[in-house]
Amino acid sequence: MWLFFVNNYHFDFYRTSGYNSPMSTPARIVVFDTTLRDGEQAPGFSMDVPAKLAVARALDTLGVDILEAGFPIASPADAEAVRQIAGEIKRPVIAALARTRRQDIEEAARSLEPAERSRIHTFLATSDLHLQAKLRMTREECLASAIDAVKLARQFTDDVEFSAEDATRSDREFLCRVIESVIRAGCTTVNLPDTVGYATPDEHRDFFAEIIARVPNADKAIFSAHCHNDLGLAVANSLAAIQGGVRQVECSVNGIGERAGNASLEELVMALRVRSDRLPYDTGINSPALFAASQLLSEVTSEPVQANKAIVGRNSFAHEAGIHQDGVLKDVRTYEIMRPEDVGQSVSSRLVLGRHSGRHAVQSRCEALGFTLSHEEVDQIYRAVISLGEHRKAIADNDLRRIVERVRTPATANGGAPMPQPEAVGYGHGV
Ligand code: KIV
Ligand code: ZN
Repeated sequence: MWLFFVNNYHFDFYRTSGYNSPMSTPARIVVFDTTLRDGEQAPGFSMDVPAKLAVARALDTLGVDILEAGFPIASPADAEAVRQIAGEIKRPVIAALARTRRQDIEEAARSLEPAERSRIHTFLATSDLHLQAKLRMTREECLASAIDAVKLARQFTDDVEFSAEDATRSDREFLCRVIESVIRAGCTTVNLPDTVGYATPDEHRDFFAEIIARVPNADKAIFSAHCHNDLGLAVANSLAAIQGGVRQVECSVNGIGERAGNASLEELVMALRVRSDRLPYDTGINSPALFAASQLLSEVTSEPVQANKAIVGRNSFAHEAGIHQDGVLKDVRTYEIMRPEDVGQSVSSRLVLGRHSGRHAVQSRCEALGFTLSHEEVDQIYRAVISLGEHRKAIADNDLRRIVERVRTPATANGGAPMPQPEAVGYGHGV
């Protein structure tokens, strides 16, 4: 309600070079969405079957390539959600997670039966820490289990992904042996998760580049990154992984996932699109559907999206400071690197009137509401807005209308009440 419309926003960002042109034909990156699996398993984000179906439809509209619908062995509801999604959503490949155990893989295969195109995603930890402390397995047992799981999964589908859990903390030599063996066993996508979000970007790029160079049959599979956000580096690490040779990224809407979450789908997609000059890669994501997907997820999980969340937060295209509002009114590129409509946000969310606003934005909003004002009136209205902004987070259209009416009403008709005056109007806010 307090979000404002800027009516002089017409030019084309691309033609006016708001985005830089790609340096070459972008390589296609496969988007593997795990909102309904890694995201859904995080505290506070569990969804029932109808909610999962609704999110799955939004993910289909978004254009994700692979939709990981759940972990069927985890619960009958998980299995049912995978089955219903596989029955209804036909464009993307539908994936289901399974440990390397036979029952897991068979349950995943059963749940995926209605799918047009299905993927079994089987995983096993490869780090000594996980093998010894959690699984109590030797490296040789791990290797044998990974190979058997991939072979079994291939009996149900040609599309099999193997994830080496805690890959970034695994012994490199052993990890390469596992990867070579699972590819030989029929694995088509090799995912190397940074399970605990420990990697740094340059390290992650080198990690993938080294592994792809060392594994002799690396060309027989697509390599994938699955980054967690414990240090806030999940998107940066995913981009670095792409530079290291990865062609699939695993991510989630709003970045939901275990602990601090997974790489945020919307941030990855828009980083690739906006900075195609540095990152010559693209996805098949229909970016104007990003905001709706984010809102839907927030609604069905009752988990709000952080206001300043990149791309989909309500402040990500909002300006309250006078200097910024003035700049945006003159040329949006002064303070925006992409257009709100490119991610499905409304242009009306752009200028917020409040304590930090400037004259230019106040005048522009009054004009959009149909008022033609004299210079003195703008001045008085602006001062009243600043004053009211001391007590309110934002000034809505109705507040502004009331202020305009009071300014235009002679003081006597107003009971003689003086217009509120700001205590201090600092430089810049009054632009
Ligand atoms: O973070 C992780 O290692 C995972 C795997 C199961 C892919 O989510
Ligand atoms: Zn994960």
